[in-house]
Parts: sequence; structure tokens; C-alpha cells
Amino acid sequence: MNLKQMVGIESAKYVKDGMIVGLGTGSTAYYMVEEIGRRMKEEGLHITGVTTSKATEEQALGLGIPLKSIDEVSHVDLTIDGADEISADFQGTKGGGAALLFEKIVASYSKEVIWIVDESKMVNLLGKFPLPVEVIPYGSEQLLKKFNNKQYNGKIRLQEDGTPLLTDSNNYIIDLHLEAIENPQELATWLDHQVGVVEHGLFLNIVNRVIIGTSSEGVKTIEVTR
Ligand code: A5P
Repeated sequence: MNLKQMVGIESAKYVKDGMIVGLGTGSTAYYMVEEIGRRMKEEGLHITGVTTSKATEEQALGLGIPLKSIDEVSHVDLTIDGADEISADFQGTKGGGAALLFEKIVASYSKEVIWIVDESKMVNLLGKFPLPVEVIPYGSEQLLKKFNNKQYNGKIRLQEDGTPLLTDSNNYIIDLHLEAIENPQELATWLDHQVGVVEHGLFLNIVNRVIIGTSSEGVKTIEVTR
């Protein structure tokens, strides 16, 4: 079993009967969704899923998981998702799979958030992994210039055919190749104030529990207290 599968399966243990569960996106969250599907089929677990991308929606529907949109539920009990990087103080970046907007919306309405990662995602300082910023196509070249005037080394994410990748909300992603984010809160606040930025991949003060897959010690679970 690979590390992503290990943490995916472990995280599904936190899902209880009757819960409304935010279902994350990505290659690690994939295993969590599969495990929830298995538990529903084999153990009679009942949940309602709130998906964070079209990809996860397709997967969940294929497994027969009943779904509602974020606007159809009163709350979300628990969201389980992957992350691109998690710093020593449990701040994270997300959006490598371009699903950061729905992921942040669903997480922000969740009573509890669990991140599931393999050990390679645990870092001292965020920023080696490019930070995704979702932007409206109109004016995106201007935003790109603005970012690059600040030496943020932004690049519009492209598809294989060289055209800009479109998110599930038909926006673009500008990846900021920052190498190190010394002050995530300051950067998040600045990005929050730029016209045309829809959302960014800094997920700060959001996670409650981190489940890490390690090759030497197996699964490690950390409760995050703030
Ligand atoms: C999707 O946009 C992302 O936020 C993912 O959750 C994140 O990139 C982690 O994905 P992997 O588990 O595939 O590394």
C-alpha cells in the first residue's frame, strides 16, 4: 500500500454515520473517497458528500455516494483533503490540482478539517511548491505583470496544448514560483485585496488534524491546536 493510500484509508475512519462530509480533490483524497465508498457498500455507512471539484464529483457518483452542493447543506461536519505543502506551524498551500476555490469554500464551512499527506509535503517554510492563485481571465495579464513587478515569478498555468488551463469555474491559475514564503499571512492579505484575484492557495488557520504517511513510522496523526 502506498503512503497516499494509507492516509486516505486512515482518514475515512473519522467519518461517522449521518455526517455531511467535504470530499477533497487530488491523488491522496482519491483514496479517501474510495474508502468511504467501500465503507458505504460493505459497512452500511450513510453520509452525504459535498465535493470540491468535478473530478471528485465524478468519482463519488461512480461510488454511489449521495451528494449535495455546499448551498444545499446547513453545514459540513468534516472535510478531508490533500495539501501541497504543510509548514511546521500547520499552515498549508493547496491548489496543485486547480481545485483551490471550491476546496477553500467547503473547508471554510466545515466544523472540522483533516489534511492527508505523505511525508514529502511536510516542510519548514511554505513556497517551494508554486503557490496557485485563481484569477478572472479578464485582466489576468495585468495581474501577472503586477505579481512579477513584485518578483513573484508568476506563470499562467497552461494545458498540454499551450492554452491556459481553465478551473471548474472557468478561471485561470497563475502559479507563483516564490521558493520561500516568509510571511504567509501578509501575502494572503495582499492577494485578498487584488482586483481580479478570486482566491489563492494559502490555507491559513484552517486545519484541525493532519494525517501524515511516513515510510519509517507508518501513519502519524497530529491534532492541531491554535
Ligand atoms: C487540488 O487543487 C489540491 O489542492 C490538492 O488537494 C493538492 O494539490 C494535493 O494533491 P495531491 O494529493 O494529488 O498531491
